[in-house]
Amino acid sequence: MPKKTTGEKKARTKYNVWQVIFKMTQLAWKHRKSVLYICIALILVTAMQRIFELLVSPMILSTVETKAPLSKLMGTILLFTCGILVTSSVKQYLETIAEHGRLQLTMQMLNNAGKKYVGTSYANVITSDFEDRSRIAFNSVGFSSSYACTIWYDLVSLAWNTLGFIVFGFVLGRFNWLLMGAILILSAAGATIKIKLDYADEGNMKKIRKNFGQAWYLVDTMYDQEMGKDIRIFHMQQWIRDLYQSLLNTMREWYKKRETSWFCLDLIDVAVTFLRNGLGYFVLLTAISRKTITLSEFLLYTAAVGGFTSWVNGIIQGVHSIRRHSIDLGQYFEYLEIKEPFRFEGGLPLPSGAQGYEITLDHVTYRYPDSEKDAVSDISLTLHPYEKVAVVGLNGAGKTTLVNLILGLLDPTNGTLKLNGIDIREFNRKDYYTLFSAVFQSFDALQAPLYATIAPLDNEYDQEKMDKVLSFAGIKDKIDSLPGGLSTYYSSGQFDYEKKFFEDANMNVTKLSGGELQRVMLARALYKDGPILILDEPTAALDPIAENDMYQQYNAFTAQKTSVFISHRLASTRFCDRILFMDNGHIKEEGTHESLLQKHGAYADLFEVQSRYYQKETEEMSDEI
Ligand SMILES: Nc1ncnc2c1ncn2[C@@H]1O[C@H](COP(=O)(O)OP(=O)(O)O)[C@@H](O)[C@H]1O
Ligand SMILES: [Mg+2]
Repeated sequence: MPKKTTGEKKARTKYNVWQVIFKMTQLAWKHRKSVLYICIALILVTAMQRIFELLVSPMILSTVETKAPLSKLMGTILLFTCGILVTSSVKQYLETIAEHGRLQLTMQMLNNAGKKYVGTSYANVITSDFEDRSRIAFNSVGFSSSYACTIWYDLVSLAWNTLGFIVFGFVLGRFNWLLMGAILILSAAGATIKIKLDYADEGNMKKIRKNFGQAWYLVDTMYDQEMGKDIRIFHMQQWIRDLYQSLLNTMREWYKKRETSWFCLDLIDVAVTFLRNGLGYFVLLTAISRKTITLSEFLLYTAAVGGFTSWVNGIIQGVHSIRRHSIDLGQYFEYLEIKEPFRFEGGLPLPSGAQGYEITLDHVTYRYPDSEKDAVSDISLTLHPYEKVAVVGLNGAGKTTLVNLILGLLDPTNGTLKLNGIDIREFNRKDYYTLFSAVFQSFDALQAPLYATIAPLDNEYDQEKMDKVLSFAGIKDKIDSLPGGLSTYYSSGQFDYEKKFFEDANMNVTKLSGGELQRVMLARALYKDGPILILDEPTAALDPIAENDMYQQYNAFTAQKTSVFISHRLASTRFCDRILFMDNGHIKEEGTHESLLQKHGAYADLFEVQSRYYQKETEEMSDEI
């Protein structure tokens, strides 16, 4: 049964709201101080604007009541209208420019998350926990409407709501503390109920979003060029259509439920507003009829009742929103701090390699996370300097896992891996990676000019070296035939729009067959020219002639290198110094091809089966010719 992902668990973070706010502030201070300055300016300007708005009518009225001269009346009107005009325009301006800095900061956070992902220990990447956490982190900073952006808005509005609450509470309290208390309680109750219902609604939304996700997957599948073949030949249309329809039906049900809860929400809102305003007006009207307050005071307090309510609502919603968003942002910060099992700082200097490199596996066992069985088990093995080792075995024998261990992409669960006698954990892993050139079993290239794939670190690549490795890899003729040569863009070409994008930009673009792309990968490995070469089934996508060409040249391009060549074709490795036959995570037999055949063991049996098959195939082929 698949393990539950953290996404389904209740969201939690070790950081509390204050720590998250502190971390965000710290980040803004480091990368974009203007975000903070604008927040403070916005708080002050908004508070001023609200105070002008509150006071405008009562002040004008009170000037009239006191029968002040016309000039004073005009002065008051001018002061307040200008005050409102200036503060609201400044506020609008600040809000417009605030967006830019906040977005930049969010992009910075997204960039940090990306850097973590590409830089983290490869062992992290293959765990579902890390995958889940990275997804959550990306979501919390990945969009312009993401929490990383909205938290600034929330903080600012919480601050000005609090300021307004204090000022208005004071004004209202001066008139009648009891009335203020009653309105406070009613507003708080109303806002809390609303939030509770919102929360329930959010639960519904989550389910709907999951449905949306599934529906999008189906739509994606329908538009997937590769899947197009499967869909047609295996008649999958009906299945997709039915599933899509059932998803739509479920969504409809959920939306119905939402409508009911919205209706309840509106009802509660109306009732609370009625009670609160009714109470306010009743007390104020009684006071004015008894002449305990003037008309201007009546206006002031009426505005204060309305305003006070909105401040209380604002505070409660702001706190609620910040608390929720801070959970996601807290998870973002935790994601950045996920421990690195590999050493990426400091470490011993790499051995010079003057005498070549020797890699030793000492009782190495590896078990994938969440797996119940060792993928490789108790392997002891030495790859001698300049030795050409072949690793053969059936699918699932553990060959790729073994090379991932040698490459330092995974660390053994048990046992140690040594480079020239030193545990590889002592080296900086980034340095260790410089030793290797590799062709991986599964591959795809950058959608970029071919030279960027082959020589990614070398903007001005070495033409002579490039020609040599392209010839070695058997891809030179193909590249020479492309109109843009090495500057031609590779496109996996799955989507027409991709092609159009390149063409519109006047770029030469090409697709490559699996075999051609595999040769490009081989050229890349040879161009890097690391002292240790690892090839994981590098001929799987090649035709037999190309495969044979490669074997012929293998010795030439592995001279002065330690190399590991993996294949499931036993006969393909005769040119290696030593063959390791893997089965079920163990090295079952080892030796040269001849010595293994003489042994009449598992290798010999399997070779027998395979050669009979290939023999037959070859005979059939020659019959056809
Ligand atoms: N990421 C992974 N998570 C869990 N199990 C894996 C993973 N990758 C490979 N395995 C398992 O480890 C075993 C060895 O796989 P692998 O090293 O890829 O074999 P080979 O390269 O010889 O075909 C297989 O049983 C495979 O299912
Ligand atoms: Mg493999």
